[in-house]
Amino acid sequence: MYSFSEAVEGLRSSAIRDLMNLATNPDMISFAGGMPDNELFPLKDVQEIVDGLSIGEQQAALQYAPTTGYPPLLQELGKWLKRKGLPVENNRLIITTGSLQGINIFAKLFVNPHDVVLTENPSFIGALSAFNSYLADVHGIPMDDEGIDIDKLKLALALNPKLLYVMPTFHNPAGISYSLERRRQLLDVMNQTSIPILEDDAYGDLFFNNDDIPLHIPLKTLSEKEQQICYTGSFSKIFGPGIRLGWMLLSDDFYRKAELCKQALDACSPTFTQVLAHRFLASGKLDQYVAWVRAIYNQRCDYMIDAIVRHFPQESTFVRPQGGFYLWVKLPKGMDEKELLKAVIADGAVFVIGSTFDPLGADNGYIRLSFSNTPEEKIERGIRIIGDRMKRMMM
Ligand SMILES: Cc1ncc(COP(=O)(O)O)c(C=O)c1O
Repeated sequence: MYSFSEAVEGLRSSAIRDLMNLATNPDMISFAGGMPDNELFPLKDVQEIVDGLSIGEQQAALQYAPTTGYPPLLQELGKWLKRKGLPVENNRLIITTGSLQGINIFAKLFVNPHDVVLTENPSFIGALSAFNSYLADVHGIPMDDEGIDIDKLKLALALNPKLLYVMPTFHNPAGISYSLERRRQLLDVMNQTSIPILEDDAYGDLFFNNDDIPLHIPLKTLSEKEQQICYTGSFSKIFGPGIRLGWMLLSDDFYRKAELCKQALDACSPTFTQVLAHRFLASGKLDQYVAWVRAIYNQRCDYMIDAIVRHFPQESTFVRPQGGFYLWVKLPKGMDEKELLKAVIADGAVFVIGSTFDPLGADNGYIRLSFSNTPEEKIERGIRIIGDRMKRMMM
């Protein structure tokens, strides 16, 4: 009846989303959500921050902020990123309403309908939806345990892409982190082009082993031509997604256009939560909190792997994550992931099937299990439910 836009007409509720709606029973053991655990939020820190705000901060919290961000937060975030080695001085920072807004803004800067956007395959569903909403032709490039397939990336350059979107560290959903060599190879290829790179580092702080930090160096830090790269990050996994704050670190050329885009989108990100994030960062509490929570995610990951080894058929395989939230499990050959999901939901557990993360929605024989928001005793029960179903389907 109404004439919706081409972009909106293309949006479909998938059969799988409808199925996931069935999984709302509160007793359901969910490995589906890519979010932190409610029980782990820094509630006491937030209460203390709110109680300690000056009148000036309280007023600022209810006021508009500059489009690019609340200045004290920009300053503190800049120092924090600089301490981690990012090239803050040659670049500009924008606070965004979640890093998903950063992804949307960067897509808006470059993508006209039917332009090619390169992503990894699999890739983050939120980014795929964002690119689709600009009517991009999303072209997925396969990955292995060390990162994106470099030969396939080279071939894809012939498609004249407008941008490349990658998650080199603690990938969602693939769980891997690029090897240092693969990071260098990617940069060698891309540095010879002027194709902008969007580097999504939403999980970079959630490493499991301090000794590995140099291996997870952002492309933006490693590259000799870093101006080509827009680096996005997020407070969602290290503070709480409800505060809806992320950031973009980008060159001056990108910055000026991005600021204009953001003005049209929401004028500014929530000032109230920017004031909180500023205090959380400046007090050093964020670093303490992240160290604590990262150890818990590491334990949960180990626990899930231990349960998988005991309960899943040997034919299912995975790469042990070095950080982040996800285990990406390859199912035994020929097993239908939708059938498995349907059966597992009936038994009281839920996960996300691999095709959700394929740019074209194709089946790939994988499932994504999130270990971030399920306590250990539920991990054991949920993994046993999935394993039992897998074994029965193999009979
Ligand atoms: C890889 C990746 N990037 C970005 C985001 C978006 O995070 P937010 O918009 O909450 O900052 C997520 C959330 O799950 C993610 O997994």
